[in-house]
Amino acid sequence: MKVSALPTVKLPSGESVPQLGQGTWHMGESARVRKDEIAALKLGLDLGLTLIDTAEMYGNGGAEEIVAESVAGRREECFIVSKVLPENATRAGTIAACGRSLKRLKTDRIDLYLLHWRGGPKLEETLAGFEALIASGAIRYWGVSNFDVDDMEELFRLAGGASCATNQVLYNLRRRGIEAGLLPWCRKHAIPIMAYSPFEQGRLLRDRTLTAVAIRHRATTAQIALAWVLRQADMMVIPKSSTEAHVQENRAALDIELSAQDLAELAKTFPPPKERRPLELL
Ligand SMILES: NC(=O)c1ccc[n+]([C@@H]2O[C@H](COP(=O)([O-])OP(=O)(O)OC[C@H]3O[C@@H](n4cnc5c(N)ncnc54)[C@H](OP(=O)(O)O)[C@@H]3O)[C@@H](O)[C@H]2O)c1
Repeated sequence: MKVSALPTVKLPSGESVPQLGQGTWHMGESARVRKDEIAALKLGLDLGLTLIDTAEMYGNGGAEEIVAESVAGRREECFIVSKVLPENATRAGTIAACGRSLKRLKTDRIDLYLLHWRGGPKLEETLAGFEALIASGAIRYWGVSNFDVDDMEELFRLAGGASCATNQVLYNLRRRGIEAGLLPWCRKHAIPIMAYSPFEQGRLLRDRTLTAVAIRHRATTAQIALAWVLRQADMMVIPKSSTEAHVQENRAALDIELSAQDLAELAKTFPPPKERRPLELL
C-alpha cells in the first residue's frame, strides 16, 4: 500500500501540525471499550496522526485519561488539544480547569487550549486566563471553538485577541455554511480552521453520491468524506475512531485525490451555501 507523507498545516506561530488528527468525543465513557479506544489512538500515532483533540467535557474527563494512556512514553511526538467548558471560563476558572486537565492528561503542558464554545464569562476573562497559562508554561497556544464571524470580530477587538491559534468548527459535506462567511474571514486573518465531525458522526456515510464516488476510487465513503475536507490544505481535520481498521482507512484517505467530476457530483448533492448563515453546531 502506498502511504503518502503526512501533510501539515501552519499555525499562526509558524509551527506545523499534522493536517489529519484524531478526535476523542465519547471516549472514556465505558470501561468495556477502553482497550479499543487506546489501541486505536496508539495506532493513529504510529501512522503519524499525532494531533489529538480532547476536552474536559468528553466523558467527564475520561477522554483525557484515555489520551494520557495512549501517549504515555511518546508525549514529545504529540500535539494535544484540549478545551475548557464555558461555565469554567473565567480567569481563575480557566486556570483551575487547565490544572485538572493536565492532571488527567498526565502531562505538564497542553499544546493548544480552546474555549469550547461561547458562554457566560466575558471573553476578556477567558483571554486573561489563557495568557496566564501561557506565561506559566501550562499551555503553548490558545484558540476558540464554535466561534462565528461576529465572535471572531469581537475577539480580535480585544488586546491580545489576534493571538488566537485556531477556530475549531463543524465542517463536512453536509455542513458547508462556513464557506460563505467564517472560512474566508479566517483565511483573511490567517487563522486556520480545525474541522470537526467530518462524518457527521457517521450519519453522512450512507449517502448515495458519496457511495458512487467511493466506488470509482475503490475507497470507502468515509475516505471520500475525509478527502473532501483534506483537499483544503490550510484546514486541519479530526475524525474520531475507536476502531483500528477505521484509523487505517482514515489515514489512507490522504492518498485520495478527488477529480473535478467527483467534486461536481458532490457539490450537486451537497451544494455550497449561497449566502452567509449562522454557524451550525453539533
Ligand atoms: N469543538 C466542538 O464543539 C466539537 C464538537 C464535535 C466534535 N468535536 C471533535 O471532533 C471529533 C470528531 O467529531 P465526532 O466525533 O463528532 O464525529 P465524526 O468524526 O464525524 O464521526 C465519528 C464516528 O464515525 C465513525 N468512523 C470513524 N472512522 C470511520 C470509518 N473510516 N468508517 C466508518 N465509520 C467511521 C466512528 O466510529 P468508530 O469509533 O467505530 O470508528 C464514530 O462513530 C470529536 O471526537 C471531537 O474531538 C469537537
